[in-house]
Amino acid sequence: MIKQEAKKRIDKLKEEINFHRYQYHVLDKLDMSDAAFDSLKNELEELELRWPDLVTPDSPTQRVGGQALDKFKKITHSEPMLSLNDAFGEEEIKAWVERVQKLAPRAQFSYFCELKLDGLAVALIYEKGALARGATRGDGKVGEDITQNIKTIEAIPLALRIPSESELKKEGFGEHQIKKILSTLKSGAIEVRGEAIMTKRVFEQLNKKYKKEGRPLLANSRNGAAGSLRQLDPKITAERMLSFFTYSVVTDFGLERHEQEHILARALGLPSFNHDSRKKYAQRCANLEEVIKFHAFWAKHRDELPFGCDGVVVVIDDVALRAKLGVVGKAPRWMQAYKFSGEEATTIVEDIILQIGRTGILTPVAVLRPVSVGGVTVSRASLHNEDEIRRLDLKIGDTVIVQRAGDVIPDILRVLSKLRTGKEREFHMPKICPMCGGKVEKRAVSAGKEGKSVGHFCANKNCFAVNRRQLGHFVSKSAMDIEGLGPKIIDQLMKEGLVRDSADIYDLKEGDLTPLARFAAKSAKNVIESIDKSRQAPIARFINALGILHVGEETAIDLADHFGSMEKLSEASEEDLSALANVGPVVAQSIAQWFSEAKNQKLLARLLKAVKIKEPKVSKKKQIFKNMALVLTGELAGLSRDQAKAAIRERGGDVASSVSVKTSLVVAGAEPGSKHDKAKELGVKIIGEEEFLKLLK
Ligand code: IVH
Repeated sequence: MIKQEAKKRIDKLKEEINFHRYQYHVLDKLDMSDAAFDSLKNELEELELRWPDLVTPDSPTQRVGGQALDKFKKITHSEPMLSLNDAFGEEEIKAWVERVQKLAPRAQFSYFCELKLDGLAVALIYEKGALARGATRGDGKVGEDITQNIKTIEAIPLALRIPSESELKKEGFGEHQIKKILSTLKSGAIEVRGEAIMTKRVFEQLNKKYKKEGRPLLANSRNGAAGSLRQLDPKITAERMLSFFTYSVVTDFGLERHEQEHILARALGLPSFNHDSRKKYAQRCANLEEVIKFHAFWAKHRDELPFGCDGVVVVIDDVALRAKLGVVGKAPRWMQAYKFSGEEATTIVEDIILQIGRTGILTPVAVLRPVSVGGVTVSRASLHNEDEIRRLDLKIGDTVIVQRAGDVIPDILRVLSKLRTGKEREFHMPKICPMCGGKVEKRAVSAGKEGKSVGHFCANKNCFAVNRRQLGHFVSKSAMDIEGLGPKIIDQLMKEGLVRDSADIYDLKEGDLTPLARFAAKSAKNVIESIDKSRQAPIARFINALGILHVGEETAIDLADHFGSMEKLSEASEEDLSALANVGPVVAQSIAQWFSEAKNQKLLARLLKAVKIKEPKVSKKKQIFKNMALVLTGELAGLSRDQAKAAIRERGGDVASSVSVKTSLVVAGAEPGSKHDKAKELGVKIIGEEEFLKLLK
């Protein structure tokens, strides 16, 4: 064969292979056996071997190309990758609809329902139609560049399909939309997002193989997908045979309905649910009854699905409503995850052991005889606290019903006490810590909606486990953000006696680290560099890092804003602390107690020597809201929520999330909700946006 002929044959083969990929992954049509498909790929590979200069980046042979990496590069997302709020049961999904209806009272909603796949969120960026980058969600803002691994997923096209104008017209796209789609395909960037998954069939095949080879098994198909994409060597990812479904088109083509994103994705050669050919997996619903029906159908038939699915995503179809509904926290209001209720199984509680948390709290955990719940084998169930054990009337040796609701750790629903033999044993919380032998104390803890309950704590501040958790928290992203000090390294440092508490971290030298087995000289240097970087810390993160019981990220920000310096915070009385809008008596006591302990005072002094704290800028604004707690409700037209909050804080006020007797003033925008009613009920002063803006002047 001469080169010219080879080129022709190569082009034809590529086209043919891509056509069958499209038939199979996008149109769900099996028109060729795996063996025949492989044989086409083999022929292509052979030709490319003979004429390497005829290899193009979008050739199907280039899916497993690159070398193994040392680590993934970071990618900043074009817009945040959000998450979804969950609704369990009909009541919660109805409540969501009522909430959004209040925000858009005149709108007539229709919904698009699709399956919620259990895999890993992935963003794909195509430039001039060719796959340029793939990224994980990461923290929502910055993800990891997993392009090499993404390319191994056959369901993902290496080059987008170019639909004809008439095809797009037939699919219902308007003239402007079509123009923009085609021109962006040609010369711009297109971003889509979706879920990378491992099908149940692949999961089972792989585990069978791994078992035979004596390799560790994959825990479930979701971990299978997530773990496979985080492999630094793309060859391993390729072996895992992942799949992909698109759920959104991020690039703005002026689409009017969410459903059109799916239609467009498919026209571009990407697998995606849409009501035409995958009728069963997605559906347009005119009202809530239809949504509930769709959910009920899949709750009943989920086992028949080829992939793991933990619920239905309900999307308000009208794209124009998104801006009106907005995003709360990290979740858009215009969509909701309507989850399936957990699956159940029975097993025996073989033991109850204790886990230790960063505040020293001891949590009982049930050791189960391993049992498969919803296709996943579990051996632990959370028990939360001693009260829960009493409530369940649980004894060691009991047969129980366990329920798994998508989480990794299942719950015990109830005890089948009729199956008792008389050999079951009562469980009591220990008087001494099983980890360190220190004394165990009982203390009040707030337990969410149920109010207060009693928790057991290890009183030994030197407890290895306590310190390990504390250190892990101290270095975490929302605290001092020291990269490279993962749990294994912290363990090692503690075992070597190099670090006992957080202040010790700042005494570490590169030479201390290099001899440790896990460190190559380079990474020791990097760790020291990131420790040094953390020596400049914003006060809120520093407060969070201290690991004070009940003080998380949010409370730390409130404390930082209110007190402004560590000196003032450490001198604050319980009463001073209680004056803050979001600080109740239990939290206030915990903070005051922490600063009163000699051991903590010493630690703080050492930390303050090592760390330069960045205090909030002194405000030049008139402190008109000094010592006041304000609550915002409804929509403000003139400024965003964040701007309003900042304006209040700059003027000395606190912003609380709910109305209580401590509230000094409520600022009500358009369509205020229940907070407004509560304020009226409590006789709290309410002002409108206009008056608020006047005050700010
Ligand atoms: S919509 C706002 N549609 O669920 C971001 N997400 O719990 C939601 N997921 O991170 C995107 N199937 O990884 C959407 N059909 C689907 C989905 C889906 C699975 C995942 C996604 C997201 C997570 C949120």
